[in-house]
Amino acid sequence: MKVSITGIPLAQLDVDMLLVPLAEDAADGEKTSLQDALGEPFRRAMSDFTGKAGSNPILLYPESSRAKRVVLVGLGTAKTIDAERLRAAAAQGAQAAINMKAKTVGVVMPENPLDAETASQALVEGFVLGSYRFRRYKTGEENGFEGIERIVLHAEQDEKVGRRGAERGRIVAESVITARDLVNLSPDEKTPTLLSRAIEKSAKKYGYEIEIWDKQMIEEEGMRGLLAVNRGSMEPPTFTVLTWHPENAVNERPIVLVGKGIVFDTGGLSLKPTKDSMDHMKSDMAGAAAVVGTFEALARLDMPLYVVGLIPATDNRPGENAFVPGDVLRMHSGKTVEVLNTDAEGRLILADALSYAKNYRPELVVDLATLTGAIVIALGSEAAGVMTNDVEGASERLASIEAAGERSGDRVHRMPMYDEYGKALESDVADLKNIGGRDAGSITAAKFLEHFVDYPWIHLDIAGTAFLDSPKPYRPKGGTGFGVRLLVEFLRDYANPKRRR
Ligand code: BES
Ligand code: MN
Ligand code: ZN
Repeated sequence: MKVSITGIPLAQLDVDMLLVPLAEDAADGEKTSLQDALGEPFRRAMSDFTGKAGSNPILLYPESSRAKRVVLVGLGTAKTIDAERLRAAAAQGAQAAINMKAKTVGVVMPENPLDAETASQALVEGFVLGSYRFRRYKTGEENGFEGIERIVLHAEQDEKVGRRGAERGRIVAESVITARDLVNLSPDEKTPTLLSRAIEKSAKKYGYEIEIWDKQMIEEEGMRGLLAVNRGSMEPPTFTVLTWHPENAVNERPIVLVGKGIVFDTGGLSLKPTKDSMDHMKSDMAGAAAVVGTFEALARLDMPLYVVGLIPATDNRPGENAFVPGDVLRMHSGKTVEVLNTDAEGRLILADALSYAKNYRPELVVDLATLTGAIVIALGSEAAGVMTNDVEGASERLASIEAAGERSGDRVHRMPMYDEYGKALESDVADLKNIGGRDAGSITAAKFLEHFVDYPWIHLDIAGTAFLDSPKPYRPKGGTGFGVRLLVEFLRDYANPKRRR
């Protein structure tokens, strides 16, 4: 989708559909100028317009304007408008545009309390993400419509900063879509090898570095957690290393992003109950997908940061040679783990990646993983769980990622990491066991991972937010691409201390 911005008089904007997001208490001046541009139909429509956020859009046919149709959407009260409200309104407009088969869409920048750059980014992000459809496996076009070709943001002032925001919004949204597409891909098209190749393609296209390790290299490195999970599989594992290291990087030691890449999780021999519980387990690589999307954004936005991505990938299946409950693994770090449930596999592959990350002497490591069903119970799909080890600066980093979550719409909620929770992992035969029982399942999983880190670390459990069964304003059913916008926003602050708060 092409994105541009213009400051020409609104009545002259020649589009198939014009989206007008408007506050319920919009100022008279704003309404008057809209009425001047759109004529009498706008004035009449105002009598039906509640302006409530999320209310039904109103369609009108303007008199004097070159726009063929106008869609009015509500923003709620003017002073409470935030980026998320703009994204949702833009997504409502995208939905209407698809229904009306509008190829070109104008979006009017409403009066709002945000700066022009942030508001432009939010509108474009919401629009592009709201128009996303996963159509790879659908034959033919949706209602014979080839899709929206272009959107034009109408902003009378601030054209230049607006353009910067709109451009970032497009790039960020497209990076989120990369993650969504990977998650939605059929499992047979994303074996570890195929997933690595897809990442290689992305790296070539956008100019970051990539290294793909095969099974032999993984064996030589001693990643026996990853190898154990892979034992029931017909497909070899991969370990993919992504690097973005521009000359102007502000950090000397890297930030490392680790993404869980279980391309399908059956549970292994501790098989998941078949009824429904496996239906969406192709999404168990959503952490990996978020890392890939973030790298695309890093490269396309040319961010001045040294960042490394680590993606351990395998499926988890019951096979003749599958690992079994009772197996004791000597992990990459040297610690031993008693496997008591093969369905707690994510932590095993992450543990190896996290201990490998030590080689980089990282400034910070962030992992993203669809790790536990327990986080779905705790937080549903509104926020990911965030956990951290208690080392210096942890609270500042946590505040920064929480703030990035609020601004980006990829929200996170903190879970405690008290030592007491770690007791549940004590094993009779090994250093620790891979499950901690029913209580506080997301926290004990994080406590497990904590055994394998010795640097500042943030863990994001995205099991509830990575994949949706019912749609939200700009997140369709299926893969959401959760984590990309969160990390991009967090890393922007990291690169620019002036933005840190
Ligand atoms: N991939 C699952 C977690 C998951 C559950 C993701 C639901 C998305 C939706 C993970 O590997 C898993 O199976 N976790 C187990 C851990 C348990 C065996 C300790 C769980 O949460 O039940
Ligand atoms: Mn599992
Ligand atoms: Zn899993």
